[in-house]
Amino acid sequence: MLKEFQNVKVSYEADALVEIKDKTYKIHDCIEGEDILVETEGKYPTLSKVLKPSVHRIKDGCPYQKECGGCQFMHMEYSYEVEQKKKFLKDLFQGIKNIPEIEVISTYEPTHYRNKSQMTYKLSKTKKVVCGFYEEYSHRLITVEDCMLQSKASNKVIQELNKILSKHKIKPYDEITKTGVLRHVLVRYGFQTKELMLVLVTNGEMFPGRSNVVKDLLKLNLNITTIVQNYNARDTSIVLGDKNKVLYGPGFIYELVGDYKFKISPNSFFQVNSLGMKKLYSLAINSARIKDTDIVVDAYCGVGTISIFASKYAKEVIGVELNKQAVQDANTNARVNKIQNVSFICDDATNYITNAAKNRAKLDCLIMDPPREGSTPQFINAISYLKPRTVIYISCNPLTLKRDLSLFKDYYQIKSIVGYDNFPRTKHIEVITLLELRK
Ligand SMILES: C[S@@+](CC[C@H](N)C(=O)[O-])C[C@H]1O[C@@H](n2cnc3c(N)ncnc32)[C@H](O)[C@@H]1O
Repeated sequence: MLKEFQNVKVSYEADALVEIKDKTYKIHDCIEGEDILVETEGKYPTLSKVLKPSVHRIKDGCPYQKECGGCQFMHMEYSYEVEQKKKFLKDLFQGIKNIPEIEVISTYEPTHYRNKSQMTYKLSKTKKVVCGFYEEYSHRLITVEDCMLQSKASNKVIQELNKILSKHKIKPYDEITKTGVLRHVLVRYGFQTKELMLVLVTNGEMFPGRSNVVKDLLKLNLNITTIVQNYNARDTSIVLGDKNKVLYGPGFIYELVGDYKFKISPNSFFQVNSLGMKKLYSLAINSARIKDTDIVVDAYCGVGTISIFASKYAKEVIGVELNKQAVQDANTNARVNKIQNVSFICDDATNYITNAAKNRAKLDCLIMDPPREGSTPQFINAISYLKPRTVIYISCNPLTLKRDLSLFKDYYQIKSIVGYDNFPRTKHIEVITLLELRK
């Protein structure tokens, strides 16, 4: 059954909120003020037609958008998306006292910017090996082999790989029966170096047909520089297991960002937007106004990218990171880039900062870039003892950022909040906050 809704109100995630039989439903892919026709039958009501489109709606969006939950903003002009992101941040932070004007800086390339692709596998009805993404709030896999966010090079490799997997009858892993071999495929691409890493995630070490798959792939000359098998036999939605077996090449790739070269291994965190990353770091490091006498800590440092960018301005930079492999890569990155004034410590950031506070260590500037869950109250408490002159908080989750900023407020003043759109076409955004020690 079809039902019309006029002049809809739309949430940040581009969902129109409509009432059907006294219940509120979210209708994806709408724009404020549109008139829409909703199909009310089926599991969830869905958008059937836009009767009066917004002037910001575009026609050449993604063909998979209706089913795939990956992007929220493919149906609107990019400039309008940036405006929505700015409004979202302004609304979120409006309760904070003396908040500075918030700006959002747009990215260079709103499509095909991701250097990392992560696909899940299944057998199609015609027994072909296909891959895609889960539908939102479900484990129904939507077949997608040409994602508009992923690099074109990765899309090509995935398409060719799937033909080879079908030819050799490689069985995708079935979550329900817990049988089959291939769980996921991860592709990492160096936009500047053109190096490409393929990671085949299997349900344990057994991978019958493995050498035929590798042989056939390499024959195609797709510029794959390394192939790795990752074992993940755990009953989990986490993509990668802890163990890797290199099947071809060195087991890692390099990427160039600005003047620096970075090693990327299968399990280490690396920003997904290579082009955007340089801009993000420049924004963060410029706002820190680091002096050549400064000791800088880069907490949650990953493979040391921010530490290396900051090293040019500081006396010394200490990167702290929990993931062992990332710390190894960070050390390689410092060596490869001939940087002498950085060191990396494998530790929990809270543990490291708490010990530094106990030892009254000197700290002039703290750069922190925690995962989506944000930092911890203990970490922020220890910072109030260490009293660095500036704190640069880079966050990919504005909600946990807001929570953490409230814990800084007695000692630090917020000087600027800048959104940087490192994840165009999705609801995600990076936020760089500059905090200064209160006098
Ligand atoms: C958002 S990433 C930032 C990485 C890096 N700054 C960059 O731009 O590439 C967060 C990093 O924090 C690390 N991490 C997560 N929990 C941690 C903890 N408790 N202590 C230290 N590092 C942690 C993750 O392994 C990941 O590398």
